[in-house]
Amino acid sequence: MQARGPLMIEHRLIERMISLIRVALADIQSTGRVDPLFVDDAVDFIRIYADRTHHGKEEDILFRDLDSKDLKATDRRIMNELIEEHAFGRKTTRALVEANTRYRNGDNTALSDISGNLETLVDFYPVHIEKEDNVFFPASRTYFTDEEDQAMLAEFQEFDRKMIHEKYRTVVEGLEKSG
Ligand SMILES: [Fe+2]
Ligand SMILES: [Fe+2]
Repeated sequence: MQARGPLMIEHRLIERMISLIRVALADIQSTGRVDPLFVDDAVDFIRIYADRTHHGKEEDILFRDLDSKDLKATDRRIMNELIEEHAFGRKTTRALVEANTRYRNGDNTALSDISGNLETLVDFYPVHIEKEDNVFFPASRTYFTDEEDQAMLAEFQEFDRKMIHEKYRTVVEGLEKSG
């Protein structure tokens, strides 16, 4: 498998979560209510899987290695756009968490902020993923030898291996702080 293989497989799971969020948005429209626990699950998925695990591999390994190459101006521009989009996703998720907390506390204005931020995620992720799958990943591959590509793949696997430990260490540390 090429290094971009696992990244593209992860994109397919992110798309499935985006489809679930689309369904939740339609529910919010028809019922005028949201399940805050669904929002919690979506946020956990976006933060731990889409951002930390998936964007983590892109930024900390793929983009890092690309940065040392003599990139064409268009490829460098797209890489910078992708980094900005990751940051935008984080900002949107923070706003979503904040709105969900207000909703739980009975703030009636929070619902439109929740749906607004969910809509932003539903609009943004598919475009971002399409740009990576069809434009940026194929272009990136041309800068690496087969050996370099396989070295990235191995580093991706090592990155993933650490993730579950990081996730639950954070859970325990969070509980210790709040206890
Ligand atoms: Fe990305
Ligand atoms: Fe991606």
